Amino acid sequence: MQIHPMWADYPTLAPELVATLDLIETKIAPDSVPVKEALLQMINAGGKLLRPAYCLLFSQFKETDREKMIALAAAVETLHTATLVHDDIIDRAATRRNQKTVAAQFGPDVAVYAGDYLFVVCFKLLAQYASSLRSVQKDGTSMERILNGELAQMATRYNYDITIDQYLHQVSGKTGQLFALSCFIGAYEGGNSLAFAKRAETIGLNIGIAFQLRDDILDYTSDATSFGKPVHEDIKQGVYSAPLILAMNDDRAAFRPLLAKKQTMQPEDMRQIATLMSAHDGVAKAQAMAQTYTDKALAGLAKLPAGAAKDTLVQLTQQLLSRQN
Ligand code: IPE
Ligand code: IPE
Ligand code: MG
Ligand code: MG
Repeated sequence: MQIHPMWADYPTLAPELVATLDLIETKIAPDSVPVKEALLQMINAGGKLLRPAYCLLFSQFKETDREKMIALAAAVETLHTATLVHDDIIDRAATRRNQKTVAAQFGPDVAVYAGDYLFVVCFKLLAQYASSLRSVQKDGTSMERILNGELAQMATRYNYDITIDQYLHQVSGKTGQLFALSCFIGAYEGGNSLAFAKRAETIGLNIGIAFQLRDDILDYTSDATSFGKPVHEDIKQGVYSAPLILAMNDDRAAFRPLLAKKQTMQPEDMRQIATLMSAHDGVAKAQAMAQTYTDKALAGLAKLPAGAAKDTLVQLTQQLLSRQN
């Protein structure tokens, strides 16, 4: 199976990511033709496989059962994919990974069931392959925090007074937790101590926060074709992210009448918001914040034992800060 071209720079990791994706494919067997078709299309659409990559890399500090680690990497990617399929229903997104979303192509019913099915696959993989109940418990806690992050975001929709701390709290839930879980499971199931795995978890949380900051920047600076998903949608949906919040901190009153247009916002309104944002350096401030969280992750990585796993983790984490899709 083909994987995202970014992995051409990671020749030792790439075969394990291919195996991860192949394994996920074999697990897609729901009692519904459209659900199966939708899921196969989604998993073959060229997702970046970042969460399984971190899981696998954190499992390389010790000799471990690779089949088990690939199955656990598949579990975290399956959980991620489930959240995307459901997220696209909530966000009313038309595209994902440069193709129609499951909801747009097959309808919201198939999308809900497809997401549910992926939660089942994730749970079954964990139950079969995790050596420790602690990993399953961690999965439960992470899922709860992801949901609470999404719920916190929903509670602040169209709130013009949202603070950067509220945003960071939401992001550490909805995105940070899945990176944290992936790193934890890789480290812990990979035979390292609980203390080591908790350090991996914290590093993952910071990587995830930086990742979402970069994603929220690309929502303003990229276009739908290179990004593979809709841009400028967040603001219409009332989801105010770091570049906007950090720009608004300078002059909330200037933004308010434009944001108040909500879904009726026109391209001209978006242009005015973009002008205001650039006058107040919203994107540059958000990128500096992404740098701060990446630096926290790199400081954690610096304390890990020297070797190929560490070097690759550093390379990948730095690369994500300037990613374009
Ligand atoms: C998208 O994650 C969701 C966010 C947390 C922003 P990715 O950008 O990792 O999604 P895929 O798997 O590569 O499509
Ligand atoms: C990403 O959600 C996190 C989850 C799916 C839980 P977003 O809505 O911010 O990300 P995109 O832009 O749809 O990928
Ligand atoms: Mg969303
Ligand atoms: Mg979304």
